Amino acid sequence: MVKRVKQVIAALTAKITHDDRLFVNRYLTSSEQILFWGMNLPDQRHVLNVAYTALRLAKAHKNIDINLLVRCALLHDVGKIKGDVSTMDKIITVIGHRFAPRWSKKWGRLGRGNRLMNIRHAFYIYFYHAHRSSTMLKAIGASPKVIELVAKHHETPAEHDPLELMLLRKSDDLH
Ligand SMILES: [Fe+2]
Ligand SMILES: [Fe+2]
Repeated sequence: MVKRVKQVIAALTAKITHDDRLFVNRYLTSSEQILFWGMNLPDQRHVLNVAYTALRLAKAHKNIDINLLVRCALLHDVGKIKGDVSTMDKIITVIGHRFAPRWSKKWGRLGRGNRLMNIRHAFYIYFYHAHRSSTMLKAIGASPKVIELVAKHHETPAEHDPLELMLLRKSDDLH
């Protein structure tokens, strides 16, 4: 848990470089880019790191759809929208998940409002952002494969998961 809290704090100093921008532009369509830039800056940094690591991991495998892998990596957390969850509330969700995981998951509710509603919203995003990301991707007409992999990125690994999904999860765990 300390690691997660440190991650949240380290993310405050996150930066995006010119090369990162070129990378995003190379792989994502213009409507996908709008979702990408709609994330919090720390989440933009996170998904870029996930994409770079996934590319590195992919070198050890054959028959990988690199384009699919990178697009899924860059888009997997688009449900975490800029200004939606404060850093403080993010820390609260990490603590809640650590000490009361089941309760935290049930208590989460979509929708911001007063202080309490914002914390419940933070818990909802923490546990259900994969679903929200995939819904947003569906709305802009992203490819069904991208939508599927993004929706499953926090699911328990299953036997016939595509290799791209396995690498996405592995890389996400490293960041
Ligand atoms: Fe995620
Ligand atoms: Fe992630």
